Amino acid sequence: MKFFIDTANIEEIREAAAWGIVDGVTTNPSLVAKSGRTLEENLREILDIVDGPISAEVIGTETGEMVSEGRRLAKIHPNVVVKIPMISAGVAATKILADEGINVNVTLIFQPAQGLLAAKVGAAYLSPFVGRLDDVGEDGMAIVQSLIEILDNYDYRAEVLVASVRTPAHVITAAEMGADVATCPIAVLRQLFRHPLTDRGLESFLADHAKAEKAREDTKLRSV
Ligand code: G3P
Repeated sequence: MKFFIDTANIEEIREAAAWGIVDGVTTNPSLVAKSGRTLEENLREILDIVDGPISAEVIGTETGEMVSEGRRLAKIHPNVVVKIPMISAGVAATKILADEGINVNVTLIFQPAQGLLAAKVGAAYLSPFVGRLDDVGEDGMAIVQSLIEILDNYDYRAEVLVASVRTPAHVITAAEMGADVATCPIAVLRQLFRHPLTDRGLESFLADHAKAEKAREDTKLRSV
């Protein structure tokens, strides 16, 4: 499974990239707003850190606006993936951009039918928002399962990109289901490394090593 980091924060991207596990980056207008910089400023820096798909979202809501924004973003670098919201105008824009060879990530997917439509018009990625579905009492991961089954039946090029990931359990369930990508905030990526028994085990290994070294030194001193 590919791991993307879901942030527009450059320090977070640098930190996660240094771990060697980051295949790409997703941003959205809220994350860009939080960074205090423009999308383009962030994009240019991110492209220098991660050599993989970087999703950049359009702001327009009419097909024409989304297409011109998408073309402008895609021109910045071949790794830029244009993120388009799952509305009918967005599906139309996705078809135009995909036909031109531009990679599109269709975002804000909350039900399988939306994913099917996005796949049909040539989206490169389908982004179901699992955490936000859980928030309203639905089973977020169920849509991931459904999208994987739908894509198995046809030759659509789309990959399932699990988004709005809130917990390591989301990531593991996504991997068990065979999702192509999980995009995670840095907090979730950090959690994936940790277990208290790992910390406790390492602490005792190092303490035992130090004790043995000290005993060896003491023996050496005594024999001099
Ligand atoms: O990738 C989409 C993601 O940024 C949304 O996450 O936590 O705001 O629902 P969240």
